[in-house]
Amino acid sequence: MKSAKIEKAKLDWASLPFGYVATDYNVRYYFKEGKWSGGETVSDVNISLSMAAPSLHYGQQAFEGLKAFETADGRIVVFRADENALRLQRSCERIFIPPVPTEIFLEGVERAIAANLKFVPPHGTGASLYIRPLVIGTGAKVGLGPADEYLFLVFVTPVGPYYKGGFKPVKALVVEEFDRTAPLGVGDCKVGGNYAAGLRGSMYGHDRDYPIVLYLDPREKKYIDEFSTSNFIGIKENGYISPDSLTILPSITNKSLAVIAADMGMKVEKRKVDIAEVEGFDEVGAVGTAAVITPICSIKYRNREFTFGSPESAGPVASKLYDRLTKIQTGEYEDRHGWLREIRP
Ligand code: COI
Repeated sequence: MKSAKIEKAKLDWASLPFGYVATDYNVRYYFKEGKWSGGETVSDVNISLSMAAPSLHYGQQAFEGLKAFETADGRIVVFRADENALRLQRSCERIFIPPVPTEIFLEGVERAIAANLKFVPPHGTGASLYIRPLVIGTGAKVGLGPADEYLFLVFVTPVGPYYKGGFKPVKALVVEEFDRTAPLGVGDCKVGGNYAAGLRGSMYGHDRDYPIVLYLDPREKKYIDEFSTSNFIGIKENGYISPDSLTILPSITNKSLAVIAADMGMKVEKRKVDIAEVEGFDEVGAVGTAAVITPICSIKYRNREFTFGSPESAGPVASKLYDRLTKIQTGEYEDRHGWLREIRP
């Protein structure tokens, strides 16, 4: 649909941080007695749940992050929502949540966007509408075991760049003091526990003036896993390299960039990346829905510092990838892989 006629919220769109701005509605589905309810669009931002809910005690919850955009010709589109539906199902299966069916996931996302159209940032501002689907174990249960009831909800909030300054390089620190996941843990699932486990490492980095930290594989501390907020990619000559590991969240942005890189004639590799190898990379990026591609200008590893290009501006390949990805998302470049889903009222 064209959103040109919808009066936008009065926000300073171009200066939005990656923060929370309350929007008008969220959409909720309840799982009870073995089945999901129909969706309810509500304006209440609070949820009422038992203090004995398993999501609160045993961390039985999973979530997603995706974005919607206003295109150059005024349509509202969401990027690769079907992939987020599948990833949420994988997370749910791992922690014994009844998987949210794709139709419900997509309907929830579409309804949440359609109900909050005035919060979709205007085209050209660089901002987007961030969509946060969340599923939590509800009901009351104190013994360890999966919940009997669940809530799946979708809320949206307009956001700007995750890291200050937008598409600008940041410094990274390899944190070996704390792990975000265990070798056979849930590092490949989007569950809150991974982010909780990573908070200490992130704060450790922040205290030392590193906006982002990088984790190595939890078994050997030798191979690159991922950043605190996003996947790692390395560029070497004409290669797009991303680490292969069982403890990495499969980023949809990374997957999309790998396709774009191949479209641009690059050699795409997914393999183990020894931290020692990083010194030879031409460019490094942190990639994810929130991070998009955040160029990394240096990585501090023990007593060494690997540097990549200028600390002032992104390298040429990251710039090309960023440009292509963001133009596909905003309808300025052909959506040749069918990644955009148009939102209809
Ligand atoms: C996302 O990129 O969507 C995430 O959920 C990462 C989070 C740290 C904002």
